[in-house]
Amino acid sequence: MTRSTESRLIVISNRVSAPKGSNSGSQGGLAVALAAALRENGGIWFGWSGEVTEQFTGQINFQREQGVTTAVVDLEEQDVEEYYEGYANRTLWPLFHYRIDLAEYEREFAGGYQRTNERFADTVRPLIEPDDLIWIQDYHMFPLGAELRRRGCQNQIGFFLHIPWPPRRLLGTLPGAQALVESMFEYDLIGFHTEEWLESFCDYATHEMGAKIENGVATLGDRCVRLIADPIGIDAKEFAEASAGVQARLAFRRMRDSADGRDMIVGVDRLDYSKGLEERFSGYERFLIEHPEERKEVFLLQIAPPSRVSVETYRRIRNSLEGLSGRINGEYADVDWVPIRYVNQGYPRDVLAGIYRAAKIGLVTPLRDGMNLVAKEYVAAQNPEDPGVLILSKFAGAAEQMQEALLINPYSAEEIADAIQQALRMSKDERIRRWTVLMDGVQREDVTWWATRFLDALKQARPVVTAPEKA
Ligand code: G6P
Repeated sequence: MTRSTESRLIVISNRVSAPKGSNSGSQGGLAVALAAALRENGGIWFGWSGEVTEQFTGQINFQREQGVTTAVVDLEEQDVEEYYEGYANRTLWPLFHYRIDLAEYEREFAGGYQRTNERFADTVRPLIEPDDLIWIQDYHMFPLGAELRRRGCQNQIGFFLHIPWPPRRLLGTLPGAQALVESMFEYDLIGFHTEEWLESFCDYATHEMGAKIENGVATLGDRCVRLIADPIGIDAKEFAEASAGVQARLAFRRMRDSADGRDMIVGVDRLDYSKGLEERFSGYERFLIEHPEERKEVFLLQIAPPSRVSVETYRRIRNSLEGLSGRINGEYADVDWVPIRYVNQGYPRDVLAGIYRAAKIGLVTPLRDGMNLVAKEYVAAQNPEDPGVLILSKFAGAAEQMQEALLINPYSAEEIADAIQQALRMSKDERIRRWTVLMDGVQREDVTWWATRFLDALKQARPVVTAPEKA
């Protein structure tokens, strides 16, 4: 089957983000990229509306804005509880971030996840035309490809995982792990952000399931799937424009004024236990203890908008951070200085760009992260003549590409403290040298590069000849 250049693109993800125009600065990088790919290829972006309905009807709400058609569907409360909050965010998310201590294995969650994916498949199937390329995003939808095949869909179907793939011994704790991985062999192409996640997938597939891996293709029985490591980037050009805009400049000035000559260290993360915020605060505290002379010369601005608030583990991390930041501030603050400014609200990206630019250090220390785009945005927002320093966890996917950052082990308070001190002392020449290399990568391997690589690979993935009709 040769694919015509007119193939439409069907993007499917749990969250669908309607385009708001490139200047609004309030869209995530992924949303910007997917909207651009959809504009170029034509097609539809399908997913959950974020709304709850009494009874699932499969009724689709279409919208067309800025050349992108979105198609969303409401879910029942039980679906949201079992599929989104349950299996996606209480089972898969902690497990895939190596936190089996937090993972909850409940039959209801697994059942609701499967049911909701079947509902998505039933709903989106009639929208799919024979030549469409289908691109499914993230851990909410592992079985969707197989469900579409069951409904006779012979299209090229790609899947992209935005979170880490866990080591096989951890994945082995998930009831039904083999069936989940087996269903992924119905895809034509699976993308990961890093070689490490890809290798972990291969390790499980070969050792636990007897799959064969050759030349980037995994074969299991009569099914084969192509695998690629394709690191996502940011829309560097759009972000640079946002950084130069009015909102960014205002935010920059506001931060510089309020810093009052002190050096700002900035962290920006969803309030999630995978982000290593407790360890970050402890590392910063260690720095304050070891360098009392620096105490009133720096401050940490931690922006952490609450996330997944209906899930208990997220409420716990929030409480814990409130306690920790309160204790550190109480212990070290003076009448005219607080060590941590802890902020639980989110800001538009153009405002963030100004804040990043005003920060001497970007502190990005997740315990595990599929990629981490804050690291890339921090770099993109810097002043080329006087750039700040990125301190990055070696356990973030971004570390594979960003070797010129100060790479640290986020579990070690000492390494965080040492890196802060090193960054504050770093000469301008060294800062410029490191930043130039990082910025070059951020610009070259941007979000368009990521999407194009994936879609080109998907177009070239082997044609699917027959639709395996499973009863
Ligand atoms: C991560 C996931 C995304 C998810 C986002 C926000 O980046 O990889 O799929 O959309 O977190 O989480 P939420 O649960 O609010 O969609």
